[in-house]
Amino acid sequence: MAKTAASLFACSECGYSSGRWFGRCPGCGEFGTLAAESTGGRRDGEGLALRPILRLVEVEVEEAARIATGVPELDRVLGGGLVPASLVLVGGEPGVGKSTLLLMALRAMSVDRRVLLVTGEESPAQVKLRAARLGGAAAVEVMAETELETVCSALERERPDVCVIDSVQTLYAAEIGSAPGSVAQVREAAARLLRVAKESGVAVFLVGHVTKDGTVAGPRVLEHLVDCVLQFEGDRYRAHRILRAAKNRFGSTNELGVFEMTGTGLVGVPDPSELFGRSEAGEVGAAVACALEGTRPILLEIQALVAATDLAMPRRVATGVDPKRLAMIVAVLTRHAGLPLGSADVFVNVAGGVRIDEPGADLAVALAIASASRGVAMREGLAAFGELGLTGRLRPAAQAERRLEECAKLGLRAVLAPAGTPGHPTLALSEAGTVREAVRTALGEAQAAAG
Ligand code: TYD
Ligand code: MG
Repeated sequence: MAKTAASLFACSECGYSSGRWFGRCPGCGEFGTLAAESTGGRRDGEGLALRPILRLVEVEVEEAARIATGVPELDRVLGGGLVPASLVLVGGEPGVGKSTLLLMALRAMSVDRRVLLVTGEESPAQVKLRAARLGGAAAVEVMAETELETVCSALERERPDVCVIDSVQTLYAAEIGSAPGSVAQVREAAARLLRVAKESGVAVFLVGHVTKDGTVAGPRVLEHLVDCVLQFEGDRYRAHRILRAAKNRFGSTNELGVFEMTGTGLVGVPDPSELFGRSEAGEVGAAVACALEGTRPILLEIQALVAATDLAMPRRVATGVDPKRLAMIVAVLTRHAGLPLGSADVFVNVAGGVRIDEPGADLAVALAIASASRGVAMREGLAAFGELGLTGRLRPAAQAERRLEECAKLGLRAVLAPAGTPGHPTLALSEAGTVREAVRTALGEAQAAAG
C-alpha cells in the first residue's frame, strides 16, 4: 500500500484511531467498532483524532485573508490585520481604553461582517452609551453573559466573524470550583474559547485586566495559549496610549501603535515622531533619540536628571528604558567620558510613555545624562542614535538610512551617529567613534569631532 494513501481506522465508540484495523478497539475494548475512515476530509466534531500525519510538502496552506479591523494602528500591531479564527489577548490596566479600542474596531468591522460583543463588565445600555460617544455602532451585536458554556454555544451557533470577550476575568465555568477571575477559571475560559475560535472560525479578542504589580490572574497565565498578546499601555491620566504586541504567531512583535484618547474615542497617531520627538531648544538634560520600533523609526525625546546624592547606592531610575541598560550606560559614561556620576542620582524618562528596548537608543540616553550632568544643553536640532559598547566605543546601529530619513522628515538639521554611518543629502551628519567624542560634539564643547 502506498504510504500517502494510508487509510485510517477509527472507533465509532471512543474515537480511537489507528493505521491498522483491530477486531477489538484498543481504546475502549468494544468489539467491531473500528471502521475505515477516509483521510481526505475532516469530519466536524470528531476530526481531530483522525488527522493523519503529513509531510510538510503535503500540507495545504490556505492563507486566509486578514480582516481589516478599521483601526489602522491595531492592524499594524496585529501584523497586517486580524487573522480569522485566531485568539488575541488584549491586556492592560483598567481604564487604559481596552473596551474603547475594541468597540471602535467592532464598529468599523460591523459594516461588512458579523461581529459580537460579549460583555460581562458593562450592561448593554452602558455599551450603547459608549458606542454613541464613538459615533454609533448600530450593527454590533451585544450579549451580556458571563457563563462560559452559554458564550461558547452562542459562538458555535451564531458563528460571527469576530467576537470580543470583555473581559475574560468575568467568565465563569460552573464545573470549576473557584471564583471568576481565578487562574483556573481564566485558563479554562481561554482554552475553551481557543477551541471554539479554531473550530467555528471565529476570531476572538479576549480582554484581560492587568494591574501595575501584575497580581491579577489573567494575561500572564494565558500567554502561551493564545495566538497574539497585545499590551495596551499608557497613563490613564494622560492622553497617549501605546499598543504593542508581546507575542504574535502571525507577525512581528516589534510593531507599535500610538493613540490619543479624546472625547470621541481613540485617535491613531500616524506620526508619533512629531509628537514625541520634539525637544525644547536649549533645555538641559534633553536629547532626541532616533530609535527603531519594529519596522518604523521613531524619534523620542529622552529626558534626564542628575542630582547629587549622599546615598551609598545612588539611585538609577528609568521610565521607558531597561534599568540594566541604564546602569550600563551610566557606568560607561563614568568610566569613558569622565562624568562624575558615582555620587549622583540619575533619572531617565522617555517621552510619551514609550518603552525602548533597542540598543540604537543608547547614545541619546547617554547624551541626555551627559547634558544633565554638565548643565549644558545639547546643540539645537540634533538627534542621535548608536549603540554603546562597554569599551566606550560606539557601534553602528541597524537601518541607519531609515533613521536618518525619519530625522530629515521631521525637519531636524543634524544627526550624531557612530563613525561609518552613511551620509544623507539634507542632514549634517556628525560622526563619533567613542562616547567621549559624542559628548563633546553634542554639547558643543569641541568642533573637532565633527565630519
Ligand atoms: P475603557 O475603554 O473603559 O478602559 P478599559 O476597558 O481599558 O478599562 O475607557 C478608558 C477611559 O477612557 C475611561 O476613563 C473613559 C475614557 N474615554 C474617553 O476619554 N473618550 C471616549 O470616547 C471613551 C469611550 C472613553
Ligand atoms: Mg473595559
